[in-house]
Order: sequence, then structure tokens, then C-alpha cells
Amino acid sequence: MGTGKNIPRNFLANNPKAVRGEGIYIYDETGKDYIDGCCGALVSNLGHGVTRIIDDITDQMKTLEFAHPSRWNHDAADQAADLIAELTPGDLNYCWFVSGGSEAVESAIKMARQYYVERDGTDSPKHKLISRHCSYHGATLGGMSVGGSTGRVAAYQPLLNPSAKLPATYVYRKPDHMTEAEFGAHCADTLEKEILKLGPENVLAFLAEPIVGSAGGAIVPDDNYWPRIRQICDTYDVLLIADEVMTGFGRTGKAFGVDHWQVIPDIIASAKGMAAGYVPTGGIFVKEKIVDAIRNGSGAFIHGHTYNANPLSCRAVASVLTYIKENNLIQNVFENGKRLGEGLSALGNAHPLIGDVRGKGFMWAMEIVRDKESKTPFDAGQKATAKALAACLDNGLIVYPGGCHINGVDTSIFLVAPPLVTTKDEVDKLLDRLDGGLKQLTGMLS
Ligand SMILES: Cc1ncc(COP(=O)(O)O)c(C=O)c1O
Repeated sequence: MGTGKNIPRNFLANNPKAVRGEGIYIYDETGKDYIDGCCGALVSNLGHGVTRIIDDITDQMKTLEFAHPSRWNHDAADQAADLIAELTPGDLNYCWFVSGGSEAVESAIKMARQYYVERDGTDSPKHKLISRHCSYHGATLGGMSVGGSTGRVAAYQPLLNPSAKLPATYVYRKPDHMTEAEFGAHCADTLEKEILKLGPENVLAFLAEPIVGSAGGAIVPDDNYWPRIRQICDTYDVLLIADEVMTGFGRTGKAFGVDHWQVIPDIIASAKGMAAGYVPTGGIFVKEKIVDAIRNGSGAFIHGHTYNANPLSCRAVASVLTYIKENNLIQNVFENGKRLGEGLSALGNAHPLIGDVRGKGFMWAMEIVRDKESKTPFDAGQKATAKALAACLDNGLIVYPGGCHINGVDTSIFLVAPPLVTTKDEVDKLLDRLDGGLKQLTGMLS
């Protein structure tokens, strides 16, 4: 128990106290170890307690802990931006640093708007945003306006300026009369219809997660989807913003989620694994044409937070990306991700409550259902996700909750997303603990 003065995420939850982290494990006050099977919230991508990262951040702290970006340049920001540009697709060679995912999404939206203002003048009509159902883009008012996670925004609805929402690319719950390819094409085509409805001259950007995170559960679209989305955006002069807050920096076995389809967005928003939990950070990575429009236009992005490009975060990003590169971690995710996916699928087949197993690399979800055949979910009141989390925790494994409201039903899912450093043996250990958790869950839900 804490002192009670820190407002908890949930007053009703009785969370254990974390006292120490090492590698893929977190330890509670009794000394029990838990595999961090979801990196907190897909954040701690290198695992816990990596001395090299801690030393680099400490060194930065001693050398220059802060210098305001309106007055100073510094090496940490340059080094971090150079390393990011090595990883980003196409000519997304420019980086604007922020402190988290919600700020990254806000910055992406504002930069998109400023691009058209620089290009076409302040009376540019481009301002409408299009996003999707079963999506999450952050907790700020802008992030909630584009987010498609009904439960998380209901209380704040009157404060929002909601974007147009397209169907989720939810292959598992697609209409029976469509093949996966037809469904992928259909979902992409809804973008074209929406742009035409709103008027292409008014549409600023389409914003989506390449692989949906917790607001749907590692939903991987059909291969047709992203290339067709890129084409539609090009046809109608609409910017494509990829929210890679969860999927960025190797999580899915490629540097970025969009790399699975060789699609180059106009802006990527990212955070979480970017500094792997060692400090808060985030950023947007931007195409040259957008940065050029600002550089050759007004000369300044009319936006900025105090901690924009702060030395500590930038040094942490540079250190984390160097570590990922030197240890071939994206390749590790690609290889061991197959083992994890196969193991999860085998568990899904063996356990009666798992209706679907989906994902890529080290980003997977299991969907819990009452009946596999009909894909009928549990009623929300049965709290299937919360029970799954508790059962896994009992077995020494931390997984991440998720789900969404789609076609009148509430889905129950959890994410399995271990650190990028996870070895073959550790994958097997995770699967073993998950097996124990699923057996326990079956007892709890029957
Ligand atoms: C896809 C996505 N976008 C944006 C965010 C918001 O990031 P943050 O919580 O760092 O503000 C999240 C956080 O979970 C996310 O998963």
C-alpha cells in the first residue's frame, strides 16, 4: 500500500508495489518476480536496469541537464535526430521532440495544419481530420477527439471536436461474406468515400495506428490496406499521419509498423519505446516537403512545449537507439517474434476461451471469447480482461489490458509484448507462465 496521497490510476485496484526491475523482470516487495510481458504499456523495450543507458543519462545530467530549445542547440538532440533518421522510412528525415505520445499526436496534427497554411495561406480550408473506430491516440483533448475508443472519451465528449471515424480493420470480426482481402480493400475505400463527402479541399489528414494497440488488440490489417490508403491520400492531397507510439522502434520486428507494407507516411508520431521508459519522451518524424514549407515560409513551427528537445530525453533516445543497433534487437524481435507467435497460437488453440491470436514481432493480442465458434464475447460485467490480468499476475506474468466496442459488442483482449531483448528461453518461460494463467482464467470464467 502507498501513503494514499498519490492519486492512483484506479482507486479500486489493489496493485502490488514494484520495488526493483532487472532484465525482463519486475520484483515486488515480497521478492516475487514477474515477467514484464508487456513492457508496462509497450514502453520498457530494453527491459529494466540497463547500466549503459543509465550511465549515459547520468553523464548527460552531469554535463547539461537542461537548455531551453528557443535559445540553444545541443549535441544530444542532433545525435538523437540523426539516429532516428537512419531508421525512419523514405525522407522522414526531420524530428521534433516532445515528452510523450499524446504530445506527439498533437504536434503531428498541428504541423499538418501549418504545412497547408505555409503552402496555401492562412485561409486554407484544410482542417478536417479522419481517423478510425477502435483506436487510441492519447489522453489530451486533441488525442481524444481523433481517438476511437468510446469508453475512454464518454465523460469528456462535450469538450471534444471529434474527427470522422472509419471502420476498424478488424479482420477477426469482419463480415462473413467478405474475404480478408475484400475486407481490407473495403476498409481502405471508406477513406475515399469520407474524403469525397467532406470535400478533399477541407481534409487535412488521415491518422491511424499501422497495427492497432490496446484499443483493439494488435489488429493487423490485410496487406491491401496500407498501400491503398497511401494512394488515396496522394490522390486527394491529404496528409497521412501514422501513430507509431506503440509500434515504433522495432516493436513489430521492423523499425516502424508501416515498414511491413513499405508505406511512407507524411508524419510519424512516436513515443514509449523511443527512450524505453528511462525518461519520458516522444517525437514526430516529418517529410522534407513539410519541413521545407515551414523553413522557407514563416521559419518556425508555431508550437512548443518547455521540455521540447530537452537534453536528458534526447540523450536517452540516442543511447537507446544505439543499444538497439549494436545488439541487433530488431532482428531479435523478428526471429523470436515468430517463436512467440507460434507459441501463443498453440496456447490459443489449446485453451477454450481464446478466440483469436494476432500480431507481429513482439506485439501480440489474445481475444477472450465465451464461444469460439460464434466468437461471442463475455458480457462486460464478467470482466474477462481484468480476470485474465489477475490470473497471469498470479502466475508471475504481466500482460496489458485492451478491447473495444464494435458492432454492439465489447471485446475482451490482452496484449503480450515483452522487451525487445527477450531471448528464446525467456519466450518459452513467458509462454509457460501464460499457460498457467489461462488455465486459472478458465476456472474463473466457467
Ligand atoms: C497508439 C497510441 N497513441 C498515443 C498514445 C498516447 O501516448 P502517451 O500515453 O505517452 O501520451 C498511446 C498510449 O498508449 C498509444 O498507444
